Amino acid sequence: MKTEKPHGAAQLKNLTYDEIEPFYRSLDERTRARVDHPLDGRIEFVTGVRVGDQLAAIGGLKRSFLRLRFSFHIVRAEYEKLGLGHDITRDIVEYARGRGYSHFLGTLRLSNVSRLPYFLKEGYKVVSVEGDLYVRSVFPLNRRGEILVDVYRILFNLLLPVRSMVRTVRGWRR
Ligand SMILES: CC(C)(COP(=O)(O)OP(=O)(O)OC[C@H]1O[C@@H](n2cnc3c(N)ncnc32)[C@H](O)[C@@H]1OP(=O)(O)O)[C@@H](O)C(=O)NCCC(=O)NCCS
Repeated sequence: MKTEKPHGAAQLKNLTYDEIEPFYRSLDERTRARVDHPLDGRIEFVTGVRVGDQLAAIGGLKRSFLRLRFSFHIVRAEYEKLGLGHDITRDIVEYARGRGYSHFLGTLRLSNVSRLPYFLKEGYKVVSVEGDLYVRSVFPLNRRGEILVDVYRILFNLLLPVRSMVRTVRGWRR
């Protein structure tokens, strides 16, 4: 089903913050609305694909909530479904395996759930659906990571009702 990669596509590693911000700002509004800002956590690893003199896609790993490692992927709308997302996931997995990590996490906005088949195909396992906001998933990299998929499922299922109770109580107090 895959069409040819764009002519002249070049894989990049170690992009700088100065390249990520303009890339994010230059995205069309619909794509920007689909994703969290890549710099909303501490970036650990970034990879990208340049086509001609334009950055067509970026992705990587960042540390956010509780210092957990989350992956992010952003492909410019005109370059979707050409295999760039897959190349980015491959780079992230290669980097994470090289570091001996057992897993990393994925976050998908529920409003963007049409992209879920892509993540399932790559190997992410859904662990929770958070309210009407996010689908959380885990990408296991070894046996320990596979066990953690079940652990995250239990943790999220326990934590989410507690979080929503706290929010409700806070709402009453206001
Ligand atoms: C989600 C996203 C990263 C996928 O990247 P992509 O370059 O379009 O995906 P690829 O071309 O590498 O596709 C890899 C596989 O997933 C499948 N796939 C990709 N998008 C899909 C979709 N929307 N529905 C079903 N399958 C899809 C492809 O068919 C392909 O399968 P194949 O190898 O059997 O041909 C890209 O659509 C994107 O960046 N979207 C906007 C931002 C976003 O939503 N980011 C995710 C939140 S972090």
